Amino acid sequence: MLRPMNTYFSVQDQVNEATALRTLNIFAVDLITIPSVEDLFWYVAQNVVGKLHFVDCVIYQANEAQTELTQVAAWGEKNPYGREILNPMIIPFGHGITGQVAQTQSAIIIKDLLKDQNYIPDTQPARSEICVPLIFRGRVVGVIDSESPEPQAFGEAELEILRTVAAMTSAKLELLAETQRSKQRYQDLLVSHAQLTQETNNRKALEAKLFEARKLEAIGRLTGRFAHEFNNLLTVISGNLEFLECAATTAETADILRDAQDAANRGAKLIRDMLTFAQRTRLEPAVLDINRCITTLCRQHTAILGNAPDLSLASDLWPVLIDPKGFDAALLNLALNAQDAMPEGGLLSIKTENYVHSLVASAPAAPDLLPGRYVCVSLTDQGVGIASDRLGQIFDPFFTSKSVGTGAGLGLSMVKGFIQQSGGAVTVASDLGRGTTVQLFIPIAPSLVNELLTLGA
Ligand SMILES: Nc1ncnc2c1ncn2[C@@H]1O[C@H](COP(=O)(O)OP(=O)(O)OP(=O)(O)O)[C@@H](O)[C@H]1O
Ligand SMILES: [Mg+2]
Repeated sequence: MLRPMNTYFSVQDQVNEATALRTLNIFAVDLITIPSVEDLFWYVAQNVVGKLHFVDCVIYQANEAQTELTQVAAWGEKNPYGREILNPMIIPFGHGITGQVAQTQSAIIIKDLLKDQNYIPDTQPARSEICVPLIFRGRVVGVIDSESPEPQAFGEAELEILRTVAAMTSAKLELLAETQRSKQRYQDLLVSHAQLTQETNNRKALEAKLFEARKLEAIGRLTGRFAHEFNNLLTVISGNLEFLECAATTAETADILRDAQDAANRGAKLIRDMLTFAQRTRLEPAVLDINRCITTLCRQHTAILGNAPDLSLASDLWPVLIDPKGFDAALLNLALNAQDAMPEGGLLSIKTENYVHSLVASAPAAPDLLPGRYVCVSLTDQGVGIASDRLGQIFDPFFTSKSVGTGAGLGLSMVKGFIQQSGGAVTVASDLGRGTTVQLFIPIAPSLVNELLTLGA
């Protein structure tokens, strides 16, 4: 490696005041662009030798605890190539000349090392040494050390030069630390901003959910009251129509009255669905084998269901507690929706399985599901699917994409109201153009809960 010009003459002989000042000036300008503490230490070591004509230079860095110094950069014998330090030494504070400088925070010149008890020889024994501390905010962050094979090599001029270099290095260290702090503050700011955005999004999602819940509650309350009143009126109309039907004298009158009676019955069904949606139906829950309900329903409604659904029913399915008529109605509604979504034909699959929702589950299958044991009934069709921006609306009462007279838009809202009133939950996942899966989570029978708990299941 090409070494800068270094001779074994006294530094004092070579450096006059004017050139020293010019060199220090260049030194100061160079320091401005140095990007890191490591680069700074290596630059100082190299240029104390190269520009200021010292024989060698070793920079020591102090640890946080201010107990020891480590050689971190060197120029001269200690530095064979690149940024390599030959046998890097660690020197405790107070030991040797460098350790002493670190402890006392005062520069030292040793004119003849042969006469100094403190000297710790490094690569080659030297005859004189100069060492100045690097002080940053009242703490020693390191020392700059130079040795010479000649006795009496360092005097006041060298001390002043090295002190100036040390002061400039410390100032640069302060700047680098500030830059580092600014970067850290910026990073912290980015993290806080990301957290804030996340919290704002969570809050918005919660607000949307709350709004939805309040909206449904308000509609439910209104619907419930209205439906009761209307039901009473329909009962009177229906009763009177029955009475008139008995008294009808002509076939034509009888037909008219039957049409009126049919309309009253449809109205009564609508009212029942509305009451179910508003969760105001009087339910009569019973312990049910859901698998049996499904197979019976499929057998009874072959005409409506078209192709027989593909059934995948768990053999060890837990019994559930649910109103049987309500469950049949819900299942039929969902199966009909699936048929409507597959005008060109397609397969409806119905699957049952046991499902345990524990408190520790990170992503519950249904957001509002309480921890517990459920039977999950999934209906998957290969239909047109539902656009994601519509998924939030399909449970709204009277939301329908069907033409007037074909759908009232009460099916899903009634299913949801019924399942929720039964202590369960409903979810829908859809892939537009590919199909839809509706899942019903139905709580298992309480008697079974105790049984399973005793079995430790
Ligand atoms: N399986 C499905 N595939 C695609 N869209 C569906 C499916 N199920 C429901 N939908 C959409 O959700 C809307 C609301 O369904 P919902 O069952 O509440 O009412 P409806 O079927 O339109 O009328 P109703 O059930 O009262 O006869 C449907 O009109 C349809 O747009
Ligand atoms: Mg429907």
